[in-house]
Formats: sequence, structure tokens, C-alpha cells
Amino acid sequence: MVTHAAETGWAIDLTNVSKTYRGKVRALRGIDTRVRAGEIFGLLGPNGAGKSTLVKILMTVIRPTTASGTMLGQRVGHKPTLARVGYLPEHHRFPEYLTGAQVIDYYGALAGMPRAQRRKRRDELLEIVGMKDWADTKVRGYSKGMRQRVGIAQAIVNNPDLVVLDEPTDGVDPVGRRDIRAILVRLKEQGKTVFLNSHLLSELEMVCDRVAILVQGTVASQGTIDELTCGKIRYDIEIVGGDEAAAQRSLAAAAGSTPHTIARNTLSLATTDAAVVQPVIDALRAGGVIIRSIRPVRPSLEDLFMEAVTDPTTGVALPPGARKGAGREGS
Ligand SMILES: Nc1ncnc2c1ncn2[C@@H]1O[C@H](COP(=O)(O)OP(=O)(O)OP(=O)(O)O)[C@@H](O)[C@H]1O
Ligand SMILES: [Mg+2]
Repeated sequence: MVTHAAETGWAIDLTNVSKTYRGKVRALRGIDTRVRAGEIFGLLGPNGAGKSTLVKILMTVIRPTTASGTMLGQRVGHKPTLARVGYLPEHHRFPEYLTGAQVIDYYGALAGMPRAQRRKRRDELLEIVGMKDWADTKVRGYSKGMRQRVGIAQAIVNNPDLVVLDEPTDGVDPVGRRDIRAILVRLKEQGKTVFLNSHLLSELEMVCDRVAILVQGTVASQGTIDELTCGKIRYDIEIVGGDEAAAQRSLAAAAGSTPHTIARNTLSLATTDAAVVQPVIDALRAGGVIIRSIRPVRPSLEDLFMEAVTDPTTGVALPPGARKGAGREGS
């Protein structure tokens, strides 16, 4: 069975991982993060945040500028450990002249699997990723989503303990994404650890046990979704507004001393306690205000993400890449 959980409890345990590319782009600036064995961990961040750079360091595709820590109990960069890791690179390309079945077989061979075992595994995987009917079609004739499915199949061909997927649902339609989520959950049920990068935040929310938000090469926040949203839960009261200024005055008056924010004709009370909301409703009703809706709101991963990538002083989302002067050394 899976042994790495017993080794350290952490499938990935990184301290101070940094990477400055030639040309002085500081893609990572001291990442500390840990992935528990047996969990699905999501790494999210805007374009150019450094997600793929981190994955490539784990996979020894590129060298870190600094890094300490372990993957499956071995130091980062320990090549033999990669035999226990499956990898779906970003923008992967398979030889166009191979069929899906041949691609999986090829990667099985690279992993050193004997022919009979490869054949069995190939058929199993084609079934798992829903590509059985396309097994004998050349990659050339595949859609993006089909390529991605075969990509996931090759990543798990050698039955790895840790699966690292860089944007696994890139270009995949909603049905395909649901299928991929099911595959990830199945991997987890088998005791494997899944580490994935994705932009599809609602998707991460559905499957990830924990997430880290990477912004400009640093971890802006990490934890379970509950931990990250804790303290940000609220009640929203939306009123039917005519004059916006008048509506906002009524909302502010009704909220009184309860901590709140107002945006257009919605009052957000910083509480999950329904009792706290009642006097506010009474005050609004007494003032003749018409309430359209009242609902408890838990911030979504998208809200957290937007908060992490928004410049608090200007309220404007940061542009992509390792930037803002700090992106390039000396500028
Ligand atoms: N080989 C390279 N040489 C120089 N700079 C690079 C190289 N690869 C990436 N970068 C830079 O490093 C930063 C991080 O890139 P990375 O690909 O890790 O981001 P990412 O979070 O995966 O983005 P995306 O969501 O677009 O895939 C970017 O500013 C990028 O321009
Ligand atoms: Mg990337």
C-alpha cells in the first residue's frame, strides 16, 4: 500500500523555494507549503504567478535558485523518487502519429512496465478516462479535451503515489471536467496524493481538501476552504432601490453599529448569526424599505482569489506575470 504517509505525513513539504530565471524574472520568491499525503491540493493563482515553475521544480524539469524540503520523503530534486510520481505537464504535446492507446503504452514502457502489464493497464486507463472508443484514433484527430484525457491517463499509468497535474482541465468541456473530477476523487480514495494547478476555481472548490493561492511568486494564503473563508462569512440584505444614495442611507442607518459594508443596494453584515440580522430587518421595514432578498453568504474561492490578486490601495486587479517593479530585479 501507500508508504509515504507513514514516512512523514507530508507528500510535499517545501521551504524557501525560489526561482529567478535567466533574464532576472523572479518567478518564485520563497515558497513554503505542505501537501498532506492522501489529499487533493490545489495551487491557484493568476497567469504568471509561478504555478508551473513550482511544478517544474518538483519534477526536476528546471533547477530552483533555492529550495529545501521533501517530496515523498526524499529531498526535492531526487530523481529516483520521480518513479513514484505521475506528471501531466502544461501544454503537453504527444506525437501526433500515435494513437491514444499507443501513447499510454509508450509512457508505460518509459516507466519500465512489462508488456503484458502495460496492455492491461492501458485498457483500464482508456476506460477510466472515457477514451475507449477513441483508443485507436491518432492523437492528430483528437480535440483538446481528448488530449487532456490521454494526458491524465499517461500521468497515472505507473500507479504513482503522487500525481502532479498542471491545468488538468484546460480545454475540457463541462462533462469532461466532471469526469476528471471523478478521476481525481477516485485517486484520492486509492490513497494517492493529488497536486494540481488550475484556474477553474469553482472546480478546485469542489474537489480540493486544501488550496494555496500564489500571487507574484509568493503564497498569499493557504489552508482548507473553510479556514480561508473563516471570518469572511456574512449576511447580505438586498433591497429594492430607487435612488441609490437614499437606499444607502437607509441601509447604513438600519445596520447601526453592526459591522457592515454597502455596495449599491445590498447591505453585507459581517455575521453568521441570524439573530443579529433581525433588528436590521425591523429597522428597514419600519422605514418602509422593500427587501428583495436576505441570504447568508460564504465567500467562494473566486472571492478569495480576487481578494488576493487585488491591490488593496487601488482596488484594481494586478496585471499578469511577475511584475510591479518587483518582478525584475533592479527595476
Ligand atoms: N523559461 C523561462 N524563462 C524566463 N522566464 C520564465 C520562464 N518560464 C516562466 N517564466 C516567467 O516566470 C513567471 C512565472 O511563470 P509560470 O509559468 O510559472 O506561471 P504560471 O503561474 O504557471 O502561469 P499560467 O497560469 O499562465 O500558466 C512568469 O513571469 C513567466 O514569464
Ligand atoms: Mg502555468
